[in-house]
Amino acid sequence: MTMAFFASCGGGEATTEQAPQQVQQSEPEATGDIAEITIEGNDMMVYDLKTIEVTEGQTVKLTLKHVGTMAKEVMGHNWVLLNQGVDKASFAGAAITAVDNDYIPADKAGDMIAHTKTLGGGEETTIEFDAPAVGDYEFICSFPGHYAMMTGIFTVKAK
Ligand code: CU
Repeated sequence: MTMAFFASCGGGEATTEQAPQQVQQSEPEATGDIAEITIEGNDMMVYDLKTIEVTEGQTVKLTLKHVGTMAKEVMGHNWVLLNQGVDKASFAGAAITAVDNDYIPADKAGDMIAHTKTLGGGEETTIEFDAPAVGDYEFICSFPGHYAMMTGIFTVKAK
């Protein structure tokens, strides 16, 4: 194991391209810059969170877990964060026809701040996105028929 590095061109800057895979303590979770959220959906068509709160400027790292056992085709869940002013019902109506795109309507891309893929029972997925501007936003599951029950408020508070 070599611990010595020699600068070959006098720049004085050593850049490490590849970080080791081992877990290190150098990056604590509570940096203040990342909001880690876990939300669950189940076979009863319910999210375990009705409200989510983050702070402006944060990166949101959101994990969706489908804690049920039912298949994606009959009880699929996703998590879609809608822009302010978007009508949930019309968005969900468009999503019904987007079966081949995970119930994410491509022509409504401008309505969404972020979204996960659609999961079946036992699956999970994580997305990262920048918190939008301070305010309240609605989130839904866009699987057909779910948005009325599977919805909540995503709040971005000021620093
Ligand atoms: Cu759902």
